[in-house]
Amino acid sequence: MPTDRDLIYVIDFGAQYTQLIARRIREARVYCEIVPHTSTWAELRPHNPRGLVFSGGPASVYADGAPRCDPDLLSGEAPALGICYGMQLMAFLLGGRVGGGEHREYGPARLAVNRPGLLFDGLPREIDVWMSHGDRVDSPPPGFEIAAVTSGNVTAAMFDPQRRLYGVQFHPEVRHTPQGREILAHFLYRICGCKGDWTPASFVEEQVAAIRQTVGSRRVVGALSGGVDSSVAAALVYRAIGDQLTCIFVDQGLLRKDERSQVESAFRESLGMRIITVVAPERFLNKLKDVADPERKRRIIGNEFVRVFEEEASRLGEVDFLLQGTLYPDVIESGAGSAAVIKTHHNVGGIPADLKLKLLEPLRWLFKDEVRQVGLELGLPEGIVWRQPFPGPGLAVRVPGEVTEERLAMVREADWILRQEVAGAGLERSIWQYFTVLLPVRSVGVMGDERTYAHPIVIRAVTSEDAMTADWARLPYDLLGRVSSRIVNEVPGVNRVLYDITSKPPATIEWE
Ligand code: XMP
Repeated sequence: MPTDRDLIYVIDFGAQYTQLIARRIREARVYCEIVPHTSTWAELRPHNPRGLVFSGGPASVYADGAPRCDPDLLSGEAPALGICYGMQLMAFLLGGRVGGGEHREYGPARLAVNRPGLLFDGLPREIDVWMSHGDRVDSPPPGFEIAAVTSGNVTAAMFDPQRRLYGVQFHPEVRHTPQGREILAHFLYRICGCKGDWTPASFVEEQVAAIRQTVGSRRVVGALSGGVDSSVAAALVYRAIGDQLTCIFVDQGLLRKDERSQVESAFRESLGMRIITVVAPERFLNKLKDVADPERKRRIIGNEFVRVFEEEASRLGEVDFLLQGTLYPDVIESGAGSAAVIKTHHNVGGIPADLKLKLLEPLRWLFKDEVRQVGLELGLPEGIVWRQPFPGPGLAVRVPGEVTEERLAMVREADWILRQEVAGAGLERSIWQYFTVLLPVRSVGVMGDERTYAHPIVIRAVTSEDAMTADWARLPYDLLGRVSSRIVNEVPGVNRVLYDITSKPPATIEWE
């Protein structure tokens, strides 16, 4: 992101916690970006980072193909904090000794801090931390001191104050390390000298200026889905360039019940934005005919979306930019970092190579909770800011198997019942996402005096902070009972209701 603000780079060695590290840094009001471990200091240096954080990673430094990094990252020009694998790699590259792990440490551990240095200064001498590693640093590199150990005298933290290089074997980014935020804050403020002035307001100010500069007097067409991301993106660009923005809302036949009217009323009537509604269910359903593969569904929908936008934009004439509410996790999950591609999110991976409009993605550096804060900063109504996330491919990814109008109608009705009941129980805000999935199998049931052979509906409800990890929501039994009996009674073709009690990982939130 073009910015003269404090910047920290998180060097990604493939840990599942890398994004969490980035979020914690941002929560400390310091802007950071995740970059692949192949980034060189020559590439990063021109952006003037205040510091580097080396993430953890699943590998052993001695393993074949273990991710390494440019040794110049450790030259001491910018302070660095290595976490877990990051610390081991630091030790390995700078001449320390890393040992293989008969003594795996996994879970809670107690840290004895011998030399607080700037990292632990002001904290208790004994700290509870979260460990998850096999290898360990047997002897730190020349110039380093051992700052803290765990039982058995395992090196748990080390530092070289001259070069401003720090390593911790535990995970300060997870909640199970209660003082983790303070430790990270010490690195950011005391060691890197960051000011902590990155806020939603400063983001809006920066982006409004950047959007004006990028767009000039040209026109932008906005993809509005009614979800939080595209809504905040639209409001942000509207703040910057007003009526140079036209929003297009596509009813592709994959929306939730009443979605179209809600979106139109919120944006056209309340905010006064220019919106074109395109109603094109047949077009999308025809393309999806006989397609059951989830990734193909996503790609088809993504491609078709962009085509519709292009057509509408060319009708508008003289449009140069396509606005999308792409978020940072989408960018990373789509393979921008070194993490493996998990799913093709339609607003990143599905974009056709011959796209004629330039992309404007002002939220591509933000996590979801930050988007909500920015939405509030922009004065969007809470009802929009706190809407649960809804995937771009809509209900198509909630009917595993073929997408037909009939199956969509079933999942849509079930979803509506679930939403009504969750709202009635006052649980909307405490659950990250809740929806239903129609399974392409049938089971036997009995209704009245008749045997049925019909489909099951799955209720999926999760709590999460950012959708990267999620836990299944402990919905009250009586609520589940009400939803179940309403669904089997009110949705024809459904005779069974299941509750998905899998967390992410190992499952994902959506079923496809
Ligand atoms: P998963 O299923 O990968 O989803 O755990 C994580 C979050 O992303 C949403 N999601 C999407 N959002 N386009 C989007 O804009 C997509 O293709 C897409 N797929 C999943 C999902 O609803 C959850 O909040």
